Amino acid sequence: MGRTVLGIESSCDETGLALFEEGRGLVGEVLFSQTEIHAPYGGVVPELAARDHVRRLPRLWNALQASTGVRQADAVAVTAGPGLLGALLVGVNFARALAYAWNAPVVPVHHLEGHLLAPMLQGVLPFPAVALLVSGGHTQLVEVLGIGQYRLLGDTLDDAAGEAFDKAAKMLGLPYPGGPALARLATGGDPERYSLPRPMLDRPGLDFSFSGLKTAFRLQVEKLPRGDASAGADLAASFQRAVVTTLVEKCLRALQQTGHSRLVVAGGVSANQDLRLSLHRLEKQGIQVHFASLAHCTDNGAMIALTGALRLAEGVSPLEPIDVRARWPLPGPPE
Ligand code: KG4
Ligand code: ZN
Repeated sequence: MGRTVLGIESSCDETGLALFEEGRGLVGEVLFSQTEIHAPYGGVVPELAARDHVRRLPRLWNALQASTGVRQADAVAVTAGPGLLGALLVGVNFARALAYAWNAPVVPVHHLEGHLLAPMLQGVLPFPAVALLVSGGHTQLVEVLGIGQYRLLGDTLDDAAGEAFDKAAKMLGLPYPGGPALARLATGGDPERYSLPRPMLDRPGLDFSFSGLKTAFRLQVEKLPRGDASAGADLAASFQRAVVTTLVEKCLRALQQTGHSRLVVAGGVSANQDLRLSLHRLEKQGIQVHFASLAHCTDNGAMIALTGALRLAEGVSPLEPIDVRARWPLPGPPE
């Protein structure tokens, strides 16, 4: 029997726990989203997030034990960053307490590595590959040389893609979290109606910038005709198309630049159907495209348990001191 790893995610507004067994896969998972707590404020309130993780973690662990019958794990993997510091500390201390009681190692996990490897919950991914990480806090293109070996190819100069979705949604008066709400409104809208800029496509390189698009979008929102029910949907669809076109084009550039033919797409925005469809079309050009399942695109404990298990297999030191880090670059390839 393989080792069982408990994964804990609490870096932002989702509390997630999952059990992953080496050689078997996901044994069970539980997730609580704090959406309703933060919705009245239009965004995540760090203090409220940390407090709710404190309340939620023991209950979720009880629920996970009840649903799986597993009462103890061989290791505890926990998101140690990047994320909200208070929220991270709650998860790490919960992990430490369980690990202390079980005399088990704690494996600190990089949140973005968790996202990046989440497609592996559905099966092994052969590397090298290019990864597109698109979440509420990050928009990065990464060359993945192997597990734990990442080279940053491109980054956003301002907002993250998810943040751009969230801000655009707010301008349209949609509820938080904006990304899924804007995507829903865009369904059936005409993405050709409004001409919005395709950020950074006129420039070489693999960096992103969404501030120009945001400004152009705001100007259109201010001019939205009253009484034209479809205008909001058309504008949402046009915005979504501008973001998706940019992401797809930059992925193509990164694949060409590196010579890899495999693309891994991860993070909350990878749940976007327009993005998924557009990237799947690259398969006609001989590119293999991998997404996490919809449930594992946004934050969850399963991706942390899986990444912890992979790290453990490589032999992490159980005595490794754990720092929580609000900012933390992905580990690079060996020198
Ligand atoms: O990865 P994630 O759950 O949390 C972070 O690590 O940031 O990503 C959350 C982000 C939010 O900005 C949310 O609006 C966006 O992902 N998102 C979407 C969709 N679902 C989630 N954006 C566009 N379309 C979606 N369907
Ligand atoms: Zn995330």
